[in-house]
Order: sequence, then structure tokens, then C-alpha cells
Amino acid sequence: ELGEHRHYMHKEIFEQPQAVIDTLEGRVTKDTVLTSAFGHQAEEVFKTVKQVQIIACGTSYHSGLVAKYWFEDIIGLPCQVEVASEYRYRNPVVQDGTLFVTISQSGETADTLAALQQIKKLKSKFNIPTLTICNVPESSLTRESDLTFLTHAGPEIGVASTKAFTTQLVALSLLLTSVGKTLGLMDAKQEQKIVHGLLKLPGLVKQALAHEDEIQEIANCFADKHNALFLGRGTMYPIAMEGALKLKEVSYIHAEAYPAGELKHGPLALIDEQIPVVAIAPKDDLLEKLKSNLQEVKARGGQMIVFEDEESGVSSDKEFKVVKTTTNVGRITAPITFNIPLQLLSYHVALIKGTDVDQPRNLAKSVTVE
Ligand code: F6R
Repeated sequence: ELGEHRHYMHKEIFEQPQAVIDTLEGRVTKDTVLTSAFGHQAEEVFKTVKQVQIIACGTSYHSGLVAKYWFEDIIGLPCQVEVASEYRYRNPVVQDGTLFVTISQSGETADTLAALQQIKKLKSKFNIPTLTICNVPESSLTRESDLTFLTHAGPEIGVASTKAFTTQLVALSLLLTSVGKTLGLMDAKQEQKIVHGLLKLPGLVKQALAHEDEIQEIANCFADKHNALFLGRGTMYPIAMEGALKLKEVSYIHAEAYPAGELKHGPLALIDEQIPVVAIAPKDDLLEKLKSNLQEVKARGGQMIVFEDEESGVSSDKEFKVVKTTTNVGRITAPITFNIPLQLLSYHVALIKGTDVDQPRNLAKSVTVE
């Protein structure tokens, strides 16, 4: 079943171009997103939406965080994201017209399910349509939700989520587009641009995967380290969080993610030659700000690993190991593409550490108890 791969994690990382194709299949035309992909009553439902509340755990939560940037930045629709275990035990203020979105690979995560069940109790008082983005058909979350979008990632066996995350982001970009056009917040030109970007995504993911040898070499920087820091700005901040989570899970190296602008507010005190710093540097409006953050790290002797666009122009030297990961990524495709080398990095660090990559200690694939 593993074929040429040593581990499911590796196999699933390399299945991502196909997982993207399968998730798009039948959901887009060459220029448009089919709103009916979210259910035949989706358009009626989306017409009533005034804001979005996303609930998930772990890696699925990180995909929701990326979507928050998209919803607010691209279509100006308020979007909140929270981990299920917090949301379910506080008294959140619920507003009429909230699209309540759960995201889950398994569809069985106890906290996510409990948050959904709790919100459903308010349905007599408020209009709160529920939608789940899920990888498992016939799961608890799909049964309990008004609308369902299945990510067609195929079975994910490795405990560390990889291809499910990528397809969740694809699903969220389709949701953004469907909700945006239904509400008149996105025009046909913007929609076409997003769809064209998504259709290029399998190729972009392949291009990122082609850097495996370089990343394998870089993984050696982590062999004797106990801590790592991941930095990003904008949508690359949640991608940094996901990169840090993956490294923790599979290599047992403590890793933290920070928005690069927060460095000065504390974490800069950690920087010395013992802590590798991973930065994600797409060519976007925040690149120059990120670059000056990286200079601050360099000045303190930190080892930097930078994943950038070919156009970003951070050059390699003793302190900077630069991987020219991709080129021509857009606002939607950038976070999806830049996550790929972080998955490979965690995988190769884990191999060096000799951990059980597919079954990390203390973790279960489906967290059905809280
Ligand atoms: C991380 C990981 C977990 C899950 C989390 C939610 O690699 O796999 O953080 O993402 O337990 O699981 P699902 O998506 O099944 O609800």
C-alpha cells in the first residue's frame, strides 16, 4: 500500500496534487465555482449570511485561520475562528445570520461536534445555518450539519494531517467564492482569477514538492536542536502555526509560531545560535517588513531557514538558507503552496530523529473524547 514511500506521511504529502484535483473535480467550471457543491439549497442559505464563525481543532483550526484572512480581506465579510474546546465552554455571543462552519478531517472530533450540537440548540431563536467541511462522508459532523462539503483527500492514515489540510484550504477558497458572489461581494473577474489560480494549484504543489532534496539537507540543522521558531505575516502566520505544529508532532522538537511583527514584543529574547528560525516569505505587500524582521534575527546569531518566492530576493549566505519554493502564487494559492515545504521539513527532521512518523507518541488520529 505504501508503494515507493517509507511512511504514510510521505505518501500523503506526495498525494496532494491529486487530492487538489479530486477536491476541485465537479466543483468548478473553467471560470466559475459551482455554489451547488455545498448542497442544492446552498445559494438560498448563503443569501442570508452576515458573518462566518469557524470552529475546528488542531490542523483544521489552522485552515480556518487562513480563511479568516481571506473572508475579511477579499470579500469584506466578518469571520471569526476559534478552537472548539474553547468555544464550547464559554458563552459566545451568537448573532443572527451567522454561517457556522466546522472543519474536520475525521468528522468525529468530540469538541468540534459538541460545539456544533450546542449551536444547533439556538436555531429556534436565530438563523444560524451550519456547514461542515469534512473528509469523511457519513460522519457525525456531516450528519449533524445543514450543508456538507466533502474534501476528496482520500483516506488519511498518518496521524499528522497533511493532504486533509491542503484540501480544506481548497474547500474554504470555494466557500469564500460562493458566499462572495451570492452576496454580491465578489465580481465575475475576481471569481475567474481565483478559479484560474486553483486550477494551477496542482502544478504549484508539484513544484514545491520538487524541493525535497534541498529540504532534506536543511533538516540536518534541526538534528541537535530542542526549539524552533516559525515566522510569517498575513496568511503565512497560520501557515507558520501549522508548520510548528507539524514539527512538534512528528519530531518532538518544541516549536512555536509567531507573527513576525511580534518578534520585538518578546520572542526576540529567545534568539541565539541554538534556535533555528523558519520564515515564510512570499512576494507580497508585507515582504519588506518581514525582511527587516529577519535582519533582527540575523543580528542575534540565529540560523534562518527561508521559504520564498523566486521573486522575493532573500539571498543565501552563512546565516540564511533560502529555498526558492515557488513562483507566481496568488493570495489563495500562496498559503497552500508554502505549507508544502514545511510538511517535508517536519518529515525529514523526524526521520533524522528516528521517531515514529506515522504514529507519534501520545497522539491518536481521531480525537473522539475530549
Ligand atoms: C495535526 C492533527 C490534529 C487534527 C485535530 C483535528 O496534524 O492531525 O491536530 O487536525 O485533531 O482533527 P479533525 O480534523 O479530524 O477534526
